[in-house]
Amino acid sequence: MDNILETKKLINGLKGEITIPPDKSISHRALIFGALTNSKIKIKNLSKGEDCISTLKILEKLGVEYEFISEHDLILNSSKGLSAKEKVILNCNNSGTSARLLAGLFSRCDFSCVLIGDDSLSKRPMKRIIAPLELMGAKIKSNDNNLPLEIEGTKLKAITYHSPISSAQVKSALILAGLGIDEPTRIYEKTLSRNHSEIMLSYLGADIKIGQDDKGHFVEVKKTKLIPKDIEIAGDISSAAFFMVAAAIVPNSDITIKNVGINPTRTGILDVFKQAEIDFSIINERLVSSELVADIRVKYTKNIKPFEIKGDLIPRLIDEIPILAILAAKAQGISTVSDAQDLRNKESDRIKTIVEALSFLGINIKEKPDGFNIKGCDEINKTAILETHLDHRLAMSFYVLSMINNQAMKIKGFDCINTSFPEFLKLIKELKS
Ligand code: S3P
Repeated sequence: MDNILETKKLINGLKGEITIPPDKSISHRALIFGALTNSKIKIKNLSKGEDCISTLKILEKLGVEYEFISEHDLILNSSKGLSAKEKVILNCNNSGTSARLLAGLFSRCDFSCVLIGDDSLSKRPMKRIIAPLELMGAKIKSNDNNLPLEIEGTKLKAITYHSPISSAQVKSALILAGLGIDEPTRIYEKTLSRNHSEIMLSYLGADIKIGQDDKGHFVEVKKTKLIPKDIEIAGDISSAAFFMVAAAIVPNSDITIKNVGINPTRTGILDVFKQAEIDFSIINERLVSSELVADIRVKYTKNIKPFEIKGDLIPRLIDEIPILAILAAKAQGISTVSDAQDLRNKESDRIKTIVEALSFLGINIKEKPDGFNIKGCDEINKTAILETHLDHRLAMSFYVLSMINNQAMKIKGFDCINTSFPEFLKLIKELKS
């Protein structure tokens, strides 16, 4: 993957309308919860990024059948349930969501499996799911809390778990484990992380309780029969984010992004846009399979105000921090990111990799253990070869940065965008013409 993309400044701005590809988080959940309906359902607008295809292929190996009836729509047939005759090796490739969610589910299934992944995923921490799953009685052998995970499915017991981190992957892993237990499993988190699992389970008629008390936000699940229903997936705000920031910083831009999921647990970027006084509007709000969806219009904004990202905002924009760092580079003052230490555990150590790249371009950025401070500048005027570290969100953020760099740039390993957003360059082209 040593491919290099050459990019240069965008002169005329981005204009027009695009429809953003399907949400990755919701796509994983549609496949996994869909596979638990033991029926045939239709999933409309599934992400075909490599990560979601990894989840689909794993389910296929366990007996789930599927057929694409159009580019993004498929019929998922799980009427035979999930099974494996002998210990089966299941490849999550680059997908942390596949590994963590499926570890929760497979811990309570009646087969054994080994979850493996690529080099990057094999370095990402799994203790966050192994520890609570072991409290439930799960039998998991790991490579010092990393992949491969050898899971021997067993009968689990219900627990109440206070998650030390607000992570939707941890929460969803435990929800998937708890869905196989007669007694209720309750998961607490201090700050609410994305709640697509909860919304989809309610949509599929599950016995699920959601609430908040003095210990934090909780979700409670127990063994339940899911009602087979077709699921439609909204567009991905994390993918839209690259276009939103590009339109805000590239002069003469005015774009509308259609069909974007605006679930409040994902819209931290809109809060930042308000702080930065970006010219944007939300139109045509509606519900799609119980998820809130809208169109987002963003216009070039000359005077971008500096902003502060910390605390409760972090889980609501965790994946958008790389592209928001690019917005900060154009703000009139110092923007700060704090409380985001988990960025060091993503597809790359995103604090380190962002600081390295922006410093290299002469942007004033200061690393902190839990984030960084960025001083915005009027002009970026330096040629560079930037390393993606095979991190798709860095690759696309650097591409947006190149649109405002007076000098041409090179991005090394750009193909890694295929893990989440294979259509990225095609959509950029549509907005240029
Ligand atoms: C995801 C949750 C987030 C996010 C990831 C997708 C999910 O991770 O960064 O891209 O689909 O549950 P954490 O739960 O680890 O914060």
